[in-house]
Amino acid sequence: MADIFEKIQANRGPIGQHAKASHGYFTFPKLEGEIGPHMIFRGKEKLNWSLNNYLGLANHPAVRKADAEAAANFGFAMPMGARMMSGNTNAHEQLEQELSDYVDKEDTILCNFGYQAILSAIDCLVDRHDVIVYDSESHACILDGVRLHMGKRYVFKHNDIEDCEKQLHRATKLANETGGAILVITEGVFGMRGDQGKLKEIVELKKKFNFRLLVDDAHGIGTLGATGAGTGEEQNCQDGIDIYFGTFAKSFALIGGFISSDAQVVEYLRYNMRSQIFAKALPIPLVVGALKRLELMRNMPELKNKLWEITHALQSGLVAAGFEIGETNSCVTPVYLNGSIPESTNLIYDLRENYNIFCSMVVYPVVPKGMIILRLIPTAVHTLEDVKYTIESFTKIVGKLKAGGYMSEEIAAT
Ligand SMILES: Cc1ncc(COP(=O)(O)O)c(C=O)c1O
Repeated sequence: MADIFEKIQANRGPIGQHAKASHGYFTFPKLEGEIGPHMIFRGKEKLNWSLNNYLGLANHPAVRKADAEAAANFGFAMPMGARMMSGNTNAHEQLEQELSDYVDKEDTILCNFGYQAILSAIDCLVDRHDVIVYDSESHACILDGVRLHMGKRYVFKHNDIEDCEKQLHRATKLANETGGAILVITEGVFGMRGDQGKLKEIVELKKKFNFRLLVDDAHGIGTLGATGAGTGEEQNCQDGIDIYFGTFAKSFALIGGFISSDAQVVEYLRYNMRSQIFAKALPIPLVVGALKRLELMRNMPELKNKLWEITHALQSGLVAAGFEIGETNSCVTPVYLNGSIPESTNLIYDLRENYNIFCSMVVYPVVPKGMIILRLIPTAVHTLEDVKYTIESFTKIVGKLKAGGYMSEEIAAT
């Protein structure tokens, strides 16, 4: 018989196995100073492309003022308790109302974390007779929600509508046998590669199949659509999204999330979502802070315009300089390179120490072996000068990568 502590000592997990060499530098780095494109890492200023502060709201003076006043007025304890029992407030209800208006749904439920919201919504929407059909590159919170499901699930190849249709045929056959229903789950924007989910085409499949569609629009809300209401608005199919999810962790530069849908569905979620019934409500300062952010998002289109000016400059500049940025049609900007894991860490080290650029790196097992993604998140507070400097620096480090300049087997940063 094994001992759990001994077992985890022997097997540290896919990322944890590198903890000793990477902790504090490649993993768990500390970015200090005011949140923005220029932050301090290990005592030195870096040009930072790794925060999902899309609209630059994290440090907007009106946001900082609203946050500070709400913290002073209410404190972070309030409300005490879960919404259902003792934690409901007018501010929570007002935010739900305003979010519903924004994303054009009848009602909304606030959730404490986006991750938990998706997982728990999936858990409470389906039972063992139901069938889930979901995209193979779904975010971990969707995969974990699917893991809780007691019934069948079919996965379709990433953004492959033909395969989605094939899986819907199988799901329909099964649901007819069990008497269950079908829930299709995908994302508005896939956060690693930046490609939008093919929502319009999936909605079209409703003409042939009977299912409900849940969309995780974590990266779409605030960045896509004429009013920033997300990928459904962008693709003109918001009506066909039955259950719409957004997080506060990205464009809102806050914490928490929400699910919007038909009034009767949201009422069901309010009374059945275990993560909300059995957990304390969002503190009021976060709710008041979210209301202020939403007000700015709705009234200051210049924030989204600036975000896209930077995004276009970055993406077209990278392509013009010969970089591969894949299929992105969102602000998420991946730069695809080839190299081993030691090469990628050496390259990131060079980029951080000698060019003062801080960006995230994605390697195996998140992407296939031999692939490196440098993932850039443009924001409304970056400048065209930041873009120019980054492309010039990338050109130099990629030249060095191709010449075998990062081949050393040692992880350089320890
Ligand atoms: C696609 C997607 N869904 C859900 C989440 C989880 O949201 P939160 O950070 O609010 O828990 C994230 C990341 O934050 C995400 O990228």
